[in-house]
Amino acid sequence: MVPVLALVKSNWEAIEDQPIIGKDVLELLSSSMYVNPLSIYREYVQNAMDSIEEAIALGSLAVNRGRIDIIIDAQNRQARIRDNGTGIPRNIFAKTLIALGASKKRGTKARGFRGVGRLAGLGYCKELVFRSRAEGEKQVSELRWDCRRLKALLANSQVKLNVDGLIKDLVRIRHLTTDGFPARFFEVELNGIMRHSGDYLIDTRQVHDYLSQVAPVPFAPNFAFAKRIHDELSAHVSLGNILIYLNGSKTPIYRPHADEFEIRRGVRDRFSEIKFLDIKDSDGHLAAKAWFLQHGYHGAIGSGALIKGLRLRSGNIQIGESNLLDELFTESRFNSWVVGEIHVLDERILPNGRRDHFEQNVYFNDLLNKLRPVASELACCCRMSSLSRNAIRQFESLQVQVKSILSILQQGAVSPVQSHKLKKQAIMILHRMDKASSHPALTLEHRRKFTLIIKRLQHKLREEEVSKRRHRILKQMPSSQQKIWERFITLLYEYSPNKIAAKTLVDHILRRLQ
Ligand SMILES: Nc1ncnc2c1ncn2[C@@H]1O[C@H](COP(=O)(O)OP(=O)(O)O)[C@@H](O)[C@H]1O
Ligand SMILES: [Mg+2]
Repeated sequence: MVPVLALVKSNWEAIEDQPIIGKDVLELLSSSMYVNPLSIYREYVQNAMDSIEEAIALGSLAVNRGRIDIIIDAQNRQARIRDNGTGIPRNIFAKTLIALGASKKRGTKARGFRGVGRLAGLGYCKELVFRSRAEGEKQVSELRWDCRRLKALLANSQVKLNVDGLIKDLVRIRHLTTDGFPARFFEVELNGIMRHSGDYLIDTRQVHDYLSQVAPVPFAPNFAFAKRIHDELSAHVSLGNILIYLNGSKTPIYRPHADEFEIRRGVRDRFSEIKFLDIKDSDGHLAAKAWFLQHGYHGAIGSGALIKGLRLRSGNIQIGESNLLDELFTESRFNSWVVGEIHVLDERILPNGRRDHFEQNVYFNDLLNKLRPVASELACCCRMSSLSRNAIRQFESLQVQVKSILSILQQGAVSPVQSHKLKKQAIMILHRMDKASSHPALTLEHRRKFTLIIKRLQHKLREEEVSKRRHRILKQMPSSQQKIWERFITLLYEYSPNKIAAKTLVDHILRRLQ
């Protein structure tokens, strides 16, 4: 039913009321935005990256000379992220840093574009300070957000400020004539970092591991596949390869990949090969470039290795976490078995404001659909490897059984009837080994090795059949006594759950009979 009101003819008119943008918006844009507090380092690194790339483009910074220095002072609960990019000139310093969601970067090659990332620290410290000096400036500009006061004002229902009023209340600016700062720089300082579970923000190890996965940093120089990945991607992806130094370290933060990695405690594996894949959009244009590292697929890789999972990147910044693409796998656990990255190139596929996922649209969906068969293929590697490991385990356990029978036969102390029984048993186990050795999941190398083992065991068994071996001590006994001992030893083996232990016992007894 059409409501009656709709029938009254009336034109749409513009509203005259000023929209109220309440103070809570600031909370939504800062602390409520990010699930993982470490995201704030990603946001400040992203800003530094954009600025460094701009400085290089302007010719005020040499290529490869951009750097970010992060200093974490855990004792004083303080962190500082400094870069040598363009800085922000004094005349636009305050305006730029108090704007909300008005980034000039949208539509450019820069990694930021929503104009809110720099507020990420607001919810995590008592005071957030931005400092900068642009090329040729004498003074350092400094802008301070009073985050403690922000918290108090937000919590107070009596305070009816809108965003403008709130920002004016909280923000202070000054200009310093001071030595001790670089000629051109930008830095963010978080003072009085709040305690939260894990206290990751002042944990150098956590910050290092987080940025090594997420930030656009280079691969470690001794990682064997570093150059190939770089060569394959660099023509299409703005890799950044920024040098980030943490707490004055001489070596920058590298991506976490190495030739060898730990799957779980005590189990290591190596990368054997790399595969690259171009993913095209429906018009045939390159939408993403992917790489996958092949290895033994021995199981789910632990989080500690920092490399597990097919991960998505945009502008060489990781979007979301290692489990973002779990849904592509029919058995989601297999995503933790694989190591690979997909660099999104299609400009219509954009990270969301939190950078924890992509904006949902047909282009992103299309990309996911193209990745599904890739995930199936990788899952197949995992499954085959799991099956192959089972087949190997089965073969090896059967091998142990045949070897134990052989050692009893070689001892020559059981009755002839029992010896005959044991030989038949060994033949049956060898049949099962033969079957296990031809399992389709096994590599050719394994199959060859297993066939050889079977042949050797068959040969030894045949030798026992021919020799009709009798133990030296038993042979020296009168036949009636010999039979009693053989019967006893046969029973001993029969009732012993551990044939190897039983054989050692029989060896001892026979030695005493000498
Ligand atoms: N490290 C920096 N160097 C120079 N300018 C910066 C830096 N960080 C932030 N800015 C300025 O502040 C603006 C807002 O940053 P941000 O809130 O992170 O939004 P976005 O990165 O999406 O533009 C940037 O567009 C840039 O002009
Ligand atoms: Mg930003």
